[in-house]
Amino acid sequence: MLFEALVLVIPPALLYSWYTSASTNASSGEAEEHEVKVESVVSDAFGISILNQIRGLIWNDSIMQKGYDQHKNGMFRMPFLGQWPTVVSGEYIRELARAPDDHLNFQATLNDFMQLEILVGKSVSQDMIHLPVIRALTRQLPTFYPEVVDETQYAFTTYFEKHGKLQKDGWTSVKAFDTFMAIIKQLNARTFIGLPLCREEKWEKAIDKGGANLTWRALFLRMFPEDRRAGVNEYVKRFSHVLEDCIELLTSVLEQRRAMREEERPNDLLTLIMSRVTDEEPDPRTIVGTYLVLDQVAQATTSITFVHALYYLVAYPEYADVLREEIQEVNGDSTISFTSLGELRKLDSFLRETQRLSGFSDFSMNRLALQDFTFSNGVTIHKGEFVTAVGNSVHHDPEVYQDAKEFKPWRSYDQTNAEGLGKDSKKYAAVTPSETFLAWGLGKHACPGRWYASMLVKHLVVYILLQYDIKLPDSAKGKRPADLRMVGTILPNTRASVLFKRRQGVDWD
Ligand code: HEM
Repeated sequence: MLFEALVLVIPPALLYSWYTSASTNASSGEAEEHEVKVESVVSDAFGISILNQIRGLIWNDSIMQKGYDQHKNGMFRMPFLGQWPTVVSGEYIRELARAPDDHLNFQATLNDFMQLEILVGKSVSQDMIHLPVIRALTRQLPTFYPEVVDETQYAFTTYFEKHGKLQKDGWTSVKAFDTFMAIIKQLNARTFIGLPLCREEKWEKAIDKGGANLTWRALFLRMFPEDRRAGVNEYVKRFSHVLEDCIELLTSVLEQRRAMREEERPNDLLTLIMSRVTDEEPDPRTIVGTYLVLDQVAQATTSITFVHALYYLVAYPEYADVLREEIQEVNGDSTISFTSLGELRKLDSFLRETQRLSGFSDFSMNRLALQDFTFSNGVTIHKGEFVTAVGNSVHHDPEVYQDAKEFKPWRSYDQTNAEGLGKDSKKYAAVTPSETFLAWGLGKHACPGRWYASMLVKHLVVYILLQYDIKLPDSAKGKRPADLRMVGTILPNTRASVLFKRRQGVDWD
């Protein structure tokens, strides 16, 4: 379904971008003659460039790797989704992270990608209210954690029943990707919209469809010239009102909550968003739109990361045992708490290593130039051009990480100890980005949701380790299910199954 949709949407988008970028790149002038040029890894010559754009969709990782190998500590250009972004590595990563927003802008890429100004409104596209909302969520994580814990039991029962197959030997076979996408969606729903709505099908469907519609509508609008998009959206609304239906449905919830005193409102993300929209007559589109955008950015990223971690856990049972020992040491026989979750240093190291080796994106830090910006090597990114940093290539570089191709779960734990940093050091923590650990980006736009996402992933690992024995089916022959590489993304295997069996151990309740 996703593939078919991509096949339908991407070619016209590429043609449009090819046409427009061909005309922008064709501009010439005296100043340009003296400019430091950035080499393209594959030809961007008029005519061939479209073929290379298609190659870029399929073999993004190998083009990226070639660029990295040839221009380590430098820059190169490569095809990606109809554009020819400049990709920086080495010392230029920090320069990119420090570049001022009015020159190289992150929000502008998000606005463009999700067409936020038209579909959601200025509160997100310009005022960026989603950022203080996530900061508030992060501050309140200790209060959200018990809610997540409470929802986990429900989510496992519901989705293991729905997606799992009980075998004769007592093990339940679960299609990991679909099941944990659904489980994480359920946990997010509890944090985002709270009980009882998070368990009601009508809301679940509305939010799902609203979010998907937001994404597809944005992709569709991007095929039109900028000044036509608002008009096209008005036209689209006549035929497809999924997004508007979702807004209408949630409006009744907003009205109920508005009638409550602030301190009586449920403890969830929707309440946090409402408290940030202070207009006398708040536009429901703003609140629902912010909700849907956050739901979209939180869902796939966290699910993909968790499933990558699960596949490492099941492929290396010896590491699962070490983690169980650590949980026992830190927590004894009591139920895990938010504080003890933070004390599981080996688990933290396991998560960081998962993101290093199976970080989901070949790119990190996508920025759009709002004004010309010149790097210290003299390369200028012109207004309207995209610039980004390498992602996985640096994570897999043997000059940066010893035995870079190996999964060494205690890598950062050992590094912290070797440098005598002490157990509270965050230098190599899973949530700490650096020039050589770019899974969350770097600098002031580094993912603000990373504390929440890490909490969720760690919690699920602990929950599984305490409640279940897990293994791969015999047919996998002990090998971690192969990753899937698609359009610059490393997805965990979407078809593989993992076997689960309840342990006689700590009872979560
Ligand atoms: C494992 C899960 C996640 C990963 C790997 C991830 C990764 C990223 C990356 C690479 C960026 C771009 C940073 C940059 O360009 O410098 C980003 C930005 C962002 N992420 Fe995440 N993310 C995850 C989960 C989440 C969650 C759960 C939320 C919300 C609750 C979230 C909200 C955001 C937002 C709002 C931004 C934009 C930040 C800004 O505008 O400054 N992310 N994330």
